[in-house]
Amino acid sequence: MRIFEIVFPREKSISSHSCMCATVVASTASTAFASCPNSWQQIGSPPLHQEEFKPLTKEAYHKYLADLDIEKLYETIVETIKASEECWPADGPQDGDVASYAGLFGRLAWHCSGTLRVIDGVSSGGCEGGRNRHWPEREWRDNANLDKARAILSQVKQMPRYQQLSWGDLITFAGTVGLKASGGPAEKFCFGRVDDEDGRKSIMLGTEGIEQCEFDNCRSMSPCENNFHWPEQDPKDDARCNLTQSNGRQQGSHSVGLIYVFPHGPQLRADQPDFDASQLHQRSPKLSAKEVRDTFQTRMGWTDQETVALIGGGHTLGRSHGNCASLPHGSSTKCTGAYTTSSGYEGAWTRTPSQWNYDFFEAMLEHEWVPTQSPDGLDQWGPKNTMGKFANTFRLTSDLSLVNDPIYRQWAITYKNDHNRFDADFATAWFKLTHRSTNHPRDDDLETDAGKCTDFKFAKSISV
Ligand code: HEM
Repeated sequence: MRIFEIVFPREKSISSHSCMCATVVASTASTAFASCPNSWQQIGSPPLHQEEFKPLTKEAYHKYLADLDIEKLYETIVETIKASEECWPADGPQDGDVASYAGLFGRLAWHCSGTLRVIDGVSSGGCEGGRNRHWPEREWRDNANLDKARAILSQVKQMPRYQQLSWGDLITFAGTVGLKASGGPAEKFCFGRVDDEDGRKSIMLGTEGIEQCEFDNCRSMSPCENNFHWPEQDPKDDARCNLTQSNGRQQGSHSVGLIYVFPHGPQLRADQPDFDASQLHQRSPKLSAKEVRDTFQTRMGWTDQETVALIGGGHTLGRSHGNCASLPHGSSTKCTGAYTTSSGYEGAWTRTPSQWNYDFFEAMLEHEWVPTQSPDGLDQWGPKNTMGKFANTFRLTSDLSLVNDPIYRQWAITYKNDHNRFDADFATAWFKLTHRSTNHPRDDDLETDAGKCTDFKFAKSISV
């Protein structure tokens, strides 16, 4: 098998307009990535062209699903979530929790599904098609290191009984299993997502990575031709993409390569009342709320309540990775484990990132947050009380937007006070997120079409 060495240039991060895809250097030497079950390049291409990995037609896929043992698949994925791979160690231990890929698989499922756009009542995108493994999605800077998640998951995909399971179903199910097995609320899951042979349906959302470009559309569209700054925003800060682009393309996020908003939010202009020169940065949670709403409501079709539930639940598990610069020996070649860069932000949102809990809203509503920076140099927030119970957690500006906007804040309070309500609303929103797509635009379309669902009743005894 060919082995690849991954090198992460320090300057590449979500905040930059340049592509932040990992630079891949072919190598025959044994490296930190050597023992990974599959190299990242193989996930999107060669196996796909082998007969046993070719996407099935819908009819053939429904036939395959009829015999799928969902409980066995669940157990197999739980084992995969718990088995930390040397090549890409599972998170948890660096935050005092157990090793788990639940956060990584959750992000993979969200990023695969989060391409869904509902513009003028028409749905497009979603995880059906499994295009996250194809160009252009696999090169979006938002998807940094999700190749590792797919590589780890491909251990399941390569088992004879799951070779025909679609990537769309595997990715969304793995994210849901991660949630459920970590004690989170998932009540139902339906199969039936048919894979695409290539990623061309995602070109409308932006073609950023050009190294692996396909077809004849290899121009980077970042920054967008048609863009804007908020009136309160520092004009030197990144411009935001308008929904409609001059070439007729509908840009579903504020920057090509992001599936949603800038995590660090807009930087304020010096003449704004909230500008405070004594602080480390001037990122505005209030202004960030406008872009969260612009993206989640206008471009993705979510209500305010669903937006708060989704982001709060999504950031209850897992962590952010921006600690490469702290590598003890200053080397950037083994940027794994606790010293990883994916987005460039660093930290866990809760005290138990491998186990579902209710820290997310409580920490933001009952504690004060101050501007900080990640070791990799990106603007983020930390608790003012560095000795308090949330001392080891962090927040993105977009997270804090949920307690700064008055409507979002009401939902955040509701969820902080009523955990059953939070669980129920998140479970419903997660189901909607992972089940809608171009070919199945309504929540229950997959169930009607393929008729293969589970209510996870068996899952009580199986957990991470
Ligand atoms: C305003 C919207 C959002 C922003 C700006 C945002 C941003 C981010 C960023 C920067 C990371 C860190 C990535 C890394 O460095 O590894 C992250 C991780 C994560 N996000 Fe979000 N996110 C948003 C919404 C969501 C939603 C709606 C979900 C799910 C429903 C979600 C689920 C996750 C998960 C599970 C992780 C942890 C990944 C891991 O543990 O490796 N996010 N998000």
